[in-house]
Amino acid sequence: MKIRPRRSVLYMPGANDRALEKARSLSADALILDLEDSVAPEAKSQARDKVVQAIKSGGYGTRELIIRVNALDTPWGADDLKAAASVAADAILVPKVSRPGDMVSADKLLKAQGAGAETRLWAMMETPLAILNARDIASVAGDASSRFSCLVLGTYDLIKESRARALGDRFAIIPRLAMSVLAARSFGLDVIDGVYNDFKDDAGFRAECEQGRTLGMDGKTLIHPSQVEPCNQIFSPSDEEVQWSRKVIETFALPEHKGKGVITVEGRMVERLHLVMAERVVAIWEAITS
Ligand code: COA
Ligand code: MG
Repeated sequence: MKIRPRRSVLYMPGANDRALEKARSLSADALILDLEDSVAPEAKSQARDKVVQAIKSGGYGTRELIIRVNALDTPWGADDLKAAASVAADAILVPKVSRPGDMVSADKLLKAQGAGAETRLWAMMETPLAILNARDIASVAGDASSRFSCLVLGTYDLIKESRARALGDRFAIIPRLAMSVLAARSFGLDVIDGVYNDFKDDAGFRAECEQGRTLGMDGKTLIHPSQVEPCNQIFSPSDEEVQWSRKVIETFALPEHKGKGVITVEGRMVERLHLVMAERVVAIWEAITS
């Protein structure tokens, strides 16, 4: 089981030299170099050049590098995609996806630019139509040749577009998050939760990470370096989870349990579905600690 941890996914404005530099030393699993909403229209082409230069200069180690491009129907989208393909970014994050065709078009454009299969596609789920079409959008990843690998929630855009209220418990957003998790799981995609803007509120941030993890998110998008450590911690399996998972795997492997569908571990009933869950916990742990 090969797993790429995507616990902490840090955004930074593509026009911000200091952030592009600092990210080389932060323990985020992935970095989103943004050319879209955090970059003013007059700074778009300069930001594109900076991001290309930063990736070419290297120094990001094993961190996954994702470029968020402008939407393909804007004056900058096609050039952003071309630039992202030219530096072989690990992934291109397509904003404002609303239909499966948006992902198909991005894939075609990438192919036309000669991008290798290692350059993946991620989709922003941030419009009401994206949530209503979540299953169909995710189904694009069902094609074996698809480079589609991840959904990213744009929770503040979803609130804006639906005129919902942004309450601390995310009451209005929970069903949309849950729909996105189900869509992702149905087609083998990862799914990353939206950002928490109040980056000085550590307790509120941690609570939202816990909520996302409980819903099944693989990680959370972040806006500030101070959010990386708590996020990594909350989205990693705890020592207790790892120990329990190892025990489940070892107990199922005993000769007397060969071929059994259900066994008892420390007084609890454990089925083969728990074995699969345990194997995943250990695989994530090994990927994180390797
Ligand atoms: N990525 C990398 N480094 C970052 C960073 C980020 N997202 N946000 C801040 N930093 C760096 C700063 O450059 C500063 O570096 P230094 O002091 O070591 O030189 C340090 O972390 C502390 O930053 P701080 O002074 O607390 O914040 P700020 O006032 O510089 O920036 C924000 C605050 C919100 C403007 C900034 O965090 C940011 O731009 N976040 C990302 C926004 C974004 O990309 N939004 C789009 C998606 S929602
Ligand atoms: Mg957005």
